[in-house]
Amino acid sequence: MITVLVVGIGSGSPTQLTGEAIAALNRVDVFLVADKRSDTRDLAVMRTDLCRAVITRPDYRVIEIADPARDRDATGYREAVADWHARRARAYAEVIAHELPHGGTVGFLVWGDPAFYDSTLRIVEQIRSAGMDLIVEVLPGISSIQLLAARHQMILNGVGEPIHLTTGRRLVDEFDPALGTVVVMLDADLACAALLERFPELEIAWGAQLGLADETLVRGRLGEMLDEIRQRRAAARARRGWVMDVYALRSNRVGAPLS
Ligand SMILES: C[S@@+](CC[C@H](N)C(=O)[O-])C[C@H]1O[C@@H](n2cnc3c(N)ncnc32)[C@H](O)[C@@H]1O
Repeated sequence: MITVLVVGIGSGSPTQLTGEAIAALNRVDVFLVADKRSDTRDLAVMRTDLCRAVITRPDYRVIEIADPARDRDATGYREAVADWHARRARAYAEVIAHELPHGGTVGFLVWGDPAFYDSTLRIVEQIRSAGMDLIVEVLPGISSIQLLAARHQMILNGVGEPIHLTTGRRLVDEFDPALGTVVVMLDADLACAALLERFPELEIAWGAQLGLADETLVRGRLGEMLDEIRQRRAAARARRGWVMDVYALRSNRVGAPLS
């Protein structure tokens, strides 16, 4: 029998791992990690360092699996992503069967928490539906959403108000002040800039490289902060070759202001 542990590792710092996650990491025989682009190589190094820092057994293995290319020209975004997940699932199933022919424990390390914009659980489900018998456990991690709120010392919801979580791709179509606080992930282009004309009163709490040594935060009126955010994004990207940022938006026309 194969047991799969899907472990949320927060920002990758050992100080952010839960005790439960550390115990789970120490049960893993084989970690499967997607070998992504070379410009995010330092993320792979952080993951390896994290394992070294908290795993006490000497015999665990880390297997890198080449990530199948995503068909970015495909007409349907959902279809392209589904096809990519299916190919990833097949690659993982083959490696599991090869590495653990008599059963054992497989670990997936997930940045932040597996519940937020991460496909690991979908892929695990596809491995199972392709016929592999699996016991699955999920260990939560500290999400970048929680880090953003903690660093800005803020409650994401206004009193009795909702929180809306979305992506840069959907923000402009979806935005409505009645959504309450809108938290945006996966936004490489600061899509919020396109909201300014309609909603000049918007406030932003932004953070990049949260939990890392070069963490950076900005908070205030969106219109006044955009240039500063763009500069800090560019500086972070120049340093590491990549930048990850997340932000919360709120209209001060509705509910309490963010700042
Ligand atoms: C694929 S999603 C994964 C989210 C992750 N599961 C989580 O719980 O934070 C990647 C997005 O998460 C956000 N993110 C992840 N790590 C971050 C970090 N250290 N600092 C700021 N944002 C981060 C960014 O919006 C990034 O585009």
